[in-house]
Amino acid sequence: MKKKIAVLPGDGIGPEIVQGAIEVLRVIEENFQHEFEYEFGNIGGNAVDIDGSPLPDKTINLCKNSDAILLGAVGGPKWETLPVPLRPEQGLLKIRKELNLFANLRPTTYYESLAGSSPLRQEIIEGVDLFVVRELTGGIYFGKPSERTTINGQSGAVDTLVYSKEEITRVLEKAFEIAQTRSKKITSVDKANVLESSRLWRECANEIAKKYPDVSLEHMLVDNAAMQLIRNPKQFDVIVTENMFGDILSDEASVLTGSLGMLPSASISESGPYLYEPIHGSAPDIAGQNIANPLATILSAAMLLRVSFQLEEEAAIIEKAVNAVLDNGFRTRDIISPNTKIVSTTEMVEEVKKEIVAKLANK
Ligand code: NAD
Ligand code: IPM
Ligand code: MN
Repeated sequence: MKKKIAVLPGDGIGPEIVQGAIEVLRVIEENFQHEFEYEFGNIGGNAVDIDGSPLPDKTINLCKNSDAILLGAVGGPKWETLPVPLRPEQGLLKIRKELNLFANLRPTTYYESLAGSSPLRQEIIEGVDLFVVRELTGGIYFGKPSERTTINGQSGAVDTLVYSKEEITRVLEKAFEIAQTRSKKITSVDKANVLESSRLWRECANEIAKKYPDVSLEHMLVDNAAMQLIRNPKQFDVIVTENMFGDILSDEASVLTGSLGMLPSASISESGPYLYEPIHGSAPDIAGQNIANPLATILSAAMLLRVSFQLEEEAAIIEKAVNAVLDNGFRTRDIISPNTKIVSTTEMVEEVKKEIVAKLANK
């Protein structure tokens, strides 16, 4: 199979972890006779430095002309004081909007050998398998006005939470479709006791549920959901929610697996191309030290193979290799536990590559 992948490493640890994922993809190419062309583009702070914009037009064109996009992360202290249009995060929001990536899929998987890396007790997290579907191109992230203003003669600020029925419906539909392929249970998370947009969200969910009689729908208020995720995460399967709630709850869910450095994501649209990225950020505190966990990005590359290229066997072998490496006790610092071996980012990548080759040899 011949495909073109747009690669946007971004800032901070972005280049280190994306490099690792590409090396893993190269092993897949060699062993399964695929040809992936990687074309690099700038996004975020590095794009501001080089091109004067967090999302240059040439990056947008590159993405639109590719079969899939692999992204690292953006942002960092260097760019925090720039005017809003030049902030790295604006580049990320804009590429999501430009490509109409309205649903962000964030699976949270339990790894038995990482049980000791989570601050939660093993019996709470054992067997957790949940799937957050986060609305990605609407809500308070994009509503206007969003600006400094005057409130009662005092300086203030305003952000706007706005959703159309269509925006809500399409992401809910996607979540119900996903629930049908899993355990047929969906939890729609909102703040319907306070927010009008949440009351519309709930109405839409109830309406769509009629089309999916085999899927059971429950509603949960977001504050309770945040608590239940830690108290009893196994009650959840698919969680669908609006943009900001999904952002927060998925970082929280990462603690169930042991680290933010373990969670991949896929952002999808009606037509493609889709974008794949770890859920974590650019981790400026550990950037450039070769200690970041590359697994979330490697697992994002596996999602890319499965979702965009329908390469199930190739995706599964990467996931199995990651599992095996963890079982063998290799750990970046974010997932250390007693009796494990600390490895660098590049060493972790090498271990995953070795496991893939070993698994293919034993096939
Ligand atoms: P962060 O996710 O970058 O880091 C939070 C904590 O988790 C840090 O202690 C970091 O060291 C650790 N961490 C994150 N990824 C890790 C990995 N792969 N391996 C090991 N440890 C890891 O969030 P933050 O510190 O709040 O934000 C830093 C910057 O990243 C900000 O500029 C923010 O806007 C940006 N950000 C970008 C994205 C994205 O590009 N998708 C996502 C979140 C935050
Ligand atoms: C994420 C990040 C982004 C978000 C930021 C950097 C704009 O936190 O991808 O989860 O909030 O969507
Ligand atoms: Mn986030």
